[in-house]
Amino acid sequence: MRFFLDTADLNEIRFFSEAGLIDGITTNASIIAKSGQDIIDTISDISKMVNGPISAEVTASDFQTQIREAEKLASISPNITIKVPLTPDGLRTCKHMSDNGTMVNATLCFSVSQALLAAKAGATFVSPFIGRVEDNGGNGVGLIRDIVETFRNYPDIHTSVLASSIRCVDHVVGAAKAGADVATVPPKILHEMFKHPLTDQGIKLFSLDWEKSKQSIL
Ligand code: E4P
Repeated sequence: MRFFLDTADLNEIRFFSEAGLIDGITTNASIIAKSGQDIIDTISDISKMVNGPISAEVTASDFQTQIREAEKLASISPNITIKVPLTPDGLRTCKHMSDNGTMVNATLCFSVSQALLAAKAGATFVSPFIGRVEDNGGNGVGLIRDIVETFRNYPDIHTSVLASSIRCVDHVVGAAKAGADVATVPPKILHEMFKHPLTDQGIKLFSLDWEKSKQSIL
């Protein structure tokens, strides 16, 4: 499974990138706005730090303006992935950009039917939102499983299922078990994925025994 980091925090991106734990980045309008950073500068900085796909989202709702935004964002670096909303105009932009060789992430996916349309429009990734489905009483991981199983019926579908809106470690594990190709994980959750009380306990015990041994490796 590939992990993307769902953030515009450059320090977190550097840390996880240097640890070899992430394969790409996703941002959205809210993430960029919250960071207080300029979108073009931020996407450009990230593209120098991470080789994999970097999702940058268009903000317009109409096709013509989306294309202008998408072309500006795509010109930053070849690994920029244009994120479009799963609307008729968004998928028209998806088709146009993917036909021109740019990766596209169809975002705000909440149903199998939307995922099928994204695949038809040539999306590189489709992003079903686990957390927001659950916020509305649905089964987020179930949606991932349904999309993965549906796509498996059609070997000509090459769109990757990118599990998004991840709010806890169980969402990551659930998405992996359901067969998602990628999970985009907020830094806080990726840090939590390391944690296990027996790991901490084991480190303490090894450390105490090592002190008693009076040895040093260096
Ligand atoms: C990523 O591509 C999505 O924009 C993000 O995961 C949304 O997460 P949220 O529902 O927690 O805002």
